[in-house]
Amino acid sequence: MKAIAVDGPSGAGKSTMVKGIAQKLGYVYVDTGAIYRAVGLFAAEADIPRDTIKDVIPRLDEINVNLTYEDGVQKVYLNGKDVSSEIRTPEISLYASAVSALPEVRSKLLDLQRDIARKNNVIMDGRDIGTVVLPNADVKIFLTASAEERARRRYNELIGKGENVTYEQTLKEVIERDTNDENRAVAPLRPAEDAVIVDTTGRTKEESLALLFAEVEKRLGI
Ligand code: DC
Repeated sequence: MKAIAVDGPSGAGKSTMVKGIAQKLGYVYVDTGAIYRAVGLFAAEADIPRDTIKDVIPRLDEINVNLTYEDGVQKVYLNGKDVSSEIRTPEISLYASAVSALPEVRSKLLDLQRDIARKNNVIMDGRDIGTVVLPNADVKIFLTASAEERARRRYNELIGKGENVTYEQTLKEVIERDTNDENRAVAPLRPAEDAVIVDTTGRTKEESLALLFAEVEKRLGI
């Protein structure tokens, strides 16, 4: 099986890029952030405050997360319920970032991710795919963009969905998540040594996709 690991901060355009490449290559697109979001949703629904997020640890056995693929579209199930839309709110983004700093959560979710890569050709998007989850991936990409550009994209996306947010608040949340993701003790966000770094600041989706696809082709030798 072939594996492409794509890591990088939130809002760098990973999911759009990765979906495009998965489609071109016929690989399964695995959005690993969704499983952290599902655990974050569990914590939020259990009324565990983010600043005492450790309280979710004794309850991890109550959490069952599953990913399914229907016509190439990933769905996330939390204890049998499709939560694919519910996990996409600013509140759950912050919860996902909080739970993802807990080593107990990361190790619980590791097997699920590796199992999918064992059975399928995958392009997997996350934060530690090239460094921890699939250290032997055939291609490793670190996709990034400036915090301001990522906040602008995220803001437009949320406004498009009818959410009531401001650009300043969105930028603050982007920076808060970056700080959490880069500074946590376990699997912090950083490029693998053998990753190609692709910066999408100032590039259109089409330009970024072309750049990324060229790297993937080169590395896979296709
Ligand atoms: O990619 P995303 O924004 O949906 O991810 C949500 C959170 O989960 C993000 O704050 C970082 C965390 N995450 C992680 O720690 N490791 C991954 N492989 C994927 C996501």
